[in-house]
Amino acid sequence: TWEGVPLAPPDSILGLNAAFKADTHPQKINLGVGAYRDDNHKPWVLPVIKRATSILLNDPNLDHEYLPITGLPEFTAGAAKLILGAGSPAIEEGRVVSVQTISGTGANHLGALFISRFYHWDGPKQVYLSNPTWANHQAIFKNVGVEPLDYPYYDPTTIGLDFDGFIGTLQSAAPRSVFLLHACAHNPTGVDPTRDQWKQIAEVMMVKNHYAFFDCAYQGFASGDLNNDSWAVRYFMKKNMPMLVCQSFAKNAGLYGERVGALHIVLPAKDAVERVKSQLSVLQRSEISNPPSHGARLVSLILNDSALFDEWNRDIKTMAERIISMRTELYRLLTEELHTPGSWVHIINQIGMFSFTGISPPQANAMINKFHIYLTASGRISMAGLNSHNLRYFAESLDKVVRG
Ligand code: LMR
Repeated sequence: TWEGVPLAPPDSILGLNAAFKADTHPQKINLGVGAYRDDNHKPWVLPVIKRATSILLNDPNLDHEYLPITGLPEFTAGAAKLILGAGSPAIEEGRVVSVQTISGTGANHLGALFISRFYHWDGPKQVYLSNPTWANHQAIFKNVGVEPLDYPYYDPTTIGLDFDGFIGTLQSAAPRSVFLLHACAHNPTGVDPTRDQWKQIAEVMMVKNHYAFFDCAYQGFASGDLNNDSWAVRYFMKKNMPMLVCQSFAKNAGLYGERVGALHIVLPAKDAVERVKSQLSVLQRSEISNPPSHGARLVSLILNDSALFDEWNRDIKTMAERIISMRTELYRLLTEELHTPGSWVHIINQIGMFSFTGISPPQANAMINKFHIYLTASGRISMAGLNSHNLRYFAESLDKVVRG
């Protein structure tokens, strides 16, 4: 009956996990998926999550009832304040609709589905995605009938931002186009616009009346500071740009498997709130009925308690600083010790979980096949997979691959 079903390729990111697990080489390194690892290449349960878990488990009133369709209200309210800013006028004026989602992927999906159904499309349903972008974005939009288009983002000659190309596409796109923007720590390149560049992006988007579809999966990971990393989102808010934000707690709370996220749609006026919320509820109900409770309860405890919140900020700093120190040390090894051909300054200029090394797909393949170092074909590495024990092996392998 199913002869017509073609075999799909393995996932370009998650597929690497299986290959890594099957590899028995003692020096193997997994730099594929963007998941934080400690200095021993092990997953890290944040101390604040351990504390919140024990509070939750000792709560005599804890039950396993359904959450509301739009999620745990204390969680979604806290999550909105975290990304949009506690004193933000949109929150004070009650113009933000927040829905708990299946992490960032679920937020992207629900946001994409909502705009597919309800955005006031003047032409074909299309979304502009940065070239390159997170490999899942294309599929998420295609699934809901929105055609992905590219906007220039990464310039391979500078291993930096193609700012002129980006601005040029913002200017030439039809008015009211939808642009997906990475709020911070761009995935996969680690290349973010500067604040001044963000201001110029906002300016053109305002003139053209474009819609900003923000994806924020790494708040805290770029600089170690939650407020700092939400600067672009908050700037767009201040300018009253039409926008929504997809938010994930997978990385910054280390809750990968709990699937904790939110979609925040910022509306120009309060009168649309109930209508938008009712439609999001209908969409959510038909897909997941209501979101899972455990992870949202943990994050809600942290967001609504100042001592836990402070502890979380310290945990985030621990992760961000370890990643930043790996960048510094990798740069030093490549330039001062190994004298690897090429410029490697992008390693320290890029921010967040990922670095785009600039190596070609065949070179990335050689890293996997010769050296048992797993990374995506694009040359993206998850900096969090590097540590004080494997950094030298990685740098020496990269050096050999680059020299051919
Ligand atoms: C990544 O890009 O590695 C992460 O966002 C994990 C994922 O789901 O792809």
